Amino acid sequence: MEVNCGELRAAHIGKDVSIHGWCRYIRDHGGKLFIDLADKHGITQLVFEGKTKERGDKLGREYVIDATGKVRSREDAVNKNMATGEVEVVVDSFKLLSDSKIPPFELIEQKEKFLANEDLRLEYRYLDLRRPNALKKIVFRDKVVKSIRKFFWEHEFMELETPVLVKDTYETGSRTFLVPSRTIKKSFYSLAQSPQFYKQMCMIAGLEKYFQVVKCFRDEDAREDRQPEFTQIDLEVAFKDEKYIENLIEEMMKKVFSEVLEEKLKTPFEHIGYEEAMQTYGSDKPDLRFRNHLVDITDEAKESSYNILKRVAENGGKVKAIAFSGSKYTKKGGKIDEDYMLKSIELAKGFGLKGLTWLYIKDKGLRSEPQSIADSLRSVEKQVMKKLAPGDGDVIIIGADLSEKLLLEALGKLRKIISDKIGAYSKKYSFIWVEKFPLFEMDEVTKKLKSSHNPVTAPTEDTLKLLDSHPEKVIGRQYDLALNGEEVGGGSIRINDPALQKKIFKMMGMEEVAERTFGFMYRALSYGTPPHGGIALGLDRLVAELSGENNIRDFILFPKNKRFELPIDGSPSEINQKRLKEDFELEFGK
Ligand code: AMO
Repeated sequence: MEVNCGELRAAHIGKDVSIHGWCRYIRDHGGKLFIDLADKHGITQLVFEGKTKERGDKLGREYVIDATGKVRSREDAVNKNMATGEVEVVVDSFKLLSDSKIPPFELIEQKEKFLANEDLRLEYRYLDLRRPNALKKIVFRDKVVKSIRKFFWEHEFMELETPVLVKDTYETGSRTFLVPSRTIKKSFYSLAQSPQFYKQMCMIAGLEKYFQVVKCFRDEDAREDRQPEFTQIDLEVAFKDEKYIENLIEEMMKKVFSEVLEEKLKTPFEHIGYEEAMQTYGSDKPDLRFRNHLVDITDEAKESSYNILKRVAENGGKVKAIAFSGSKYTKKGGKIDEDYMLKSIELAKGFGLKGLTWLYIKDKGLRSEPQSIADSLRSVEKQVMKKLAPGDGDVIIIGADLSEKLLLEALGKLRKIISDKIGAYSKKYSFIWVEKFPLFEMDEVTKKLKSSHNPVTAPTEDTLKLLDSHPEKVIGRQYDLALNGEEVGGGSIRINDPALQKKIFKMMGMEEVAERTFGFMYRALSYGTPPHGGIALGLDRLVAELSGENNIRDFILFPKNKRFELPIDGSPSEINQKRLKEDFELEFGK
């Protein structure tokens, strides 16, 4: 019978089998040759004796063979760490299907720190994927996608494909990749950043429930949690509100958790408003696996004799503190010690925060290194302790800045890093809906209003009336989904009135640009647009977070590296000037 490399057990002893795979690990023990034969299912030990050994000796690493033989017990050499470890196959004949060059790195599974560097592994990704730990992540992704697809099919969503080569709307979104047209000279498509406008047009067409597993393209700056080409689970529905969409996503996640992770997911997810999320956790994607939070002590700072804090507080700035429960501070060598806190201060400076200090609790009182910091807060110690309610050994950080936004964001980042260091996790997964985002934010450079999220997001009914008088107070019907402190999704209820859509662009000083790049949407919106809304989940981030990992590249079949190059084929690469000229009438400057 034909078996795969992960299949054989003691029950197969005595059976004749045929098996194929890659020669992963070869050991010559004099009269016997042992080869661990591998495929995507696992590893099986082959034994070559006598005549077959002579031929077997010519096999090399990663040669592909097809062997036949008898399954035998390993008896006293049982390998308990291998699923097939009780047995081996004594080869009586084999066929060489393909030989192999020596791989540029080891394919036998090993600890993360001994792995070849990522660029080399990505250059030979087809070899990297032969490592069980690399393959496992791609298999996991496949399971998640299958489960999600099934969910939407069961809920009668149509799986539709929107165009990838589309009109360039760069000025109304993030940077786009441009694609010159050969047939229509001097004209360009751009690669779709998301199916946003096209899925809205599905609703205008009356298709009602759409979803798609779709590639999106954004010419963004390289960042650890981003790829220039990534995948969204994208959906849109008509005649429904945010509650329906949030509930739908929660049900979908429940299915993924039970089918893929075999865990029961608690729903409904928590909800938090943007303002509260920033004030309490210093993040618009708060990680609620950690329950510690920011506390305002601006009034206490004014009354203290800690000069830096006092000055910031008296000049209109803010002072905030966080207590890290369970930090078990010791001066040297503990989980959290003085060296670690000094490094944290340096880190905060990197986030732009200059005013940061730290203390700890001993015998129910504030202590510090040097003690003078705690002494300068002595007059307000009681109030501060009441607000923070810390335990013995807890570390406290206090930050101050004239810009509240900078202060909140920097403390939010430190909150995550220090909590992670302490291991203060209260649960494995933290899903939270973040809502009530302002529709606009002020561009620091141009001093013009800009969309805080998506220019198609509708204002809430009760703040719409503030559009002319207090645009900064208008709230959008936007909802983001955060998982363990990462934004894994975002969506909104859309504007379905072309006049309001025009007005929003006008308020952002984009009247002309929008007419030029978005005119086709104005036209579509003016032909009976039902109320509609949707969401897109970042699939790459989602699967990474569900696996408890944070390198999204590991979950992408052929990912771009940290510099957004594709090592497997060496792209991006230069293009022949002649071709550019002949096909596109394009010429690069010298
Ligand atoms: P948004 O731009 O928030 O929304 O994208 C949705 C989700 O996609 C993921 N994501 C990324 N993942 C990896 N690399 C990137 N460069 C990248 N950019 C975004 C994030 C994000 O939450 N059209 C709207 C959705 C809607 O309103 O329906 C949109 O694209 O996880």
